[in-house]
Amino acid sequence: MNVLVIGNGGREHAILLALKKSKRVEKLYCMKGNAGTAEIAENVDVDYMDTVAVKSYVAEHPEIDYYVVAPDDPLAAGLVDELESMGKRCFGPRKNAAVIESSKSFAKQLMKKYKIPTAKYETFDSYEKALEYVRSAGAPIVLKADGLALGKGVLVCETLEQAEEGLKEIMLDKAFGNAGSKVVVEEYLRGLKYTPGEEISVLAFTDGKTVVPMITSCDHKRANDGDTGMNTGGMGTFSPCPFWNKKLEKHVLKKIMIPTVKAMNKEGRTFKGCLYFGLMRTDKGMKVVEYNSRFGDPETQVVLPMLKTDIMDVFEAVTEGKLDKVKIEWEDGACVCLVLASGGYPQSYAKGKKITVGDIGDVTLVHAGTAMKNGELVTNGGRVMGIVAKGKDVEEARSKAYKAAENISWENMQYRKDIGIKYREG
Ligand code: AMP
Ligand code: GLY
Repeated sequence: MNVLVIGNGGREHAILLALKKSKRVEKLYCMKGNAGTAEIAENVDVDYMDTVAVKSYVAEHPEIDYYVVAPDDPLAAGLVDELESMGKRCFGPRKNAAVIESSKSFAKQLMKKYKIPTAKYETFDSYEKALEYVRSAGAPIVLKADGLALGKGVLVCETLEQAEEGLKEIMLDKAFGNAGSKVVVEEYLRGLKYTPGEEISVLAFTDGKTVVPMITSCDHKRANDGDTGMNTGGMGTFSPCPFWNKKLEKHVLKKIMIPTVKAMNKEGRTFKGCLYFGLMRTDKGMKVVEYNSRFGDPETQVVLPMLKTDIMDVFEAVTEGKLDKVKIEWEDGACVCLVLASGGYPQSYAKGKKITVGDIGDVTLVHAGTAMKNGELVTNGGRVMGIVAKGKDVEEARSKAYKAAENISWENMQYRKDIGIKYREG
């Protein structure tokens, strides 16, 4: 089979690396890709948000058998529907199901209606009403721009002043553009043991009937050590999550994952693809913080390397509604992804810096914002690459990743020094 993956980041490179291991895959393509994807796939220079351009490329390439739509924006825009209308087979939800991520108010309503545990909330499209509510509820409180905002449209406000300022930013100054014309105001969740609360990402394959959770992972969303600083797309991940166990998995499947898939069916929005459950272990049990309609980035970088089953078998089973027929197996051990970012990220940063890679040992470099310029590997984004290391446990994997980081450099490279040490039990 020839497979095309849509997207440019680390997640897409990780999906391609998994597909590369498949016995059934012959040729790989990536639209548009980066310098890493170019090593294993043919990069296709078409803007995946330009539906007309994508469709004409697809029409001209009947040799491509299968499409994986990985990022949130083309999913929300309905690219899977478009490809299916051309008779193509895809991995990823249709537009009416991708709304579980693209509208936070939809997701919150769904959870309320089907009694799926989440933070209490109110939705507003009037600034005055939202302000009145925030003042009466008090701090700490959480504000969320309704639409897609690159994972940055969430403000966790410790004080009322911050909340008032944040509301103005989202609704009046439109800091997140149109995503902020509606706002979700949410109860602040407290972690069982830690502040901020302990978060876990559980990605699951689902064909709308069967739900199969993958191995778990934990992201590090804040820019700086100790989970401080600004929210980013994710500065590193590790797998598995230390507080996860079979009992908790059973509980979450029963109370959250299966009810979500069933709820989407009842709403006429059957979800097929990777459904990402962003969960928090709170003082009142496991709750949903967010849903994503896709593989997480950089969660995918630590989850897929541990997949033993041929990923093409899983993808096709999802497309065909036969997920109950595949046995999905995982390696034992642990995996860490340490993100190397451009200085200044998540705010402004320079591009085009020459990347030097020395002896990095037994790790994989998963590229995100990289490009080739005059035969040299250069930076081309905020998150530049992830060092992915496996080990018998998280400690071993993280020490391999940090050792490799010492031998990679470019001007103003930055990374967190504490990836993989949080939530340790005992
Ligand atoms: P989200 O994009 O919805 O995942 O939110 C981004 C981050 O904000 C999460 O990863 C949490 O760390 C934090 N957050 C979101 N909602 C809440 C909440 N209700 N209480 C406390 N923290 C939250
Ligand atoms: N790592 C968080 C996300 O993919 O949304």
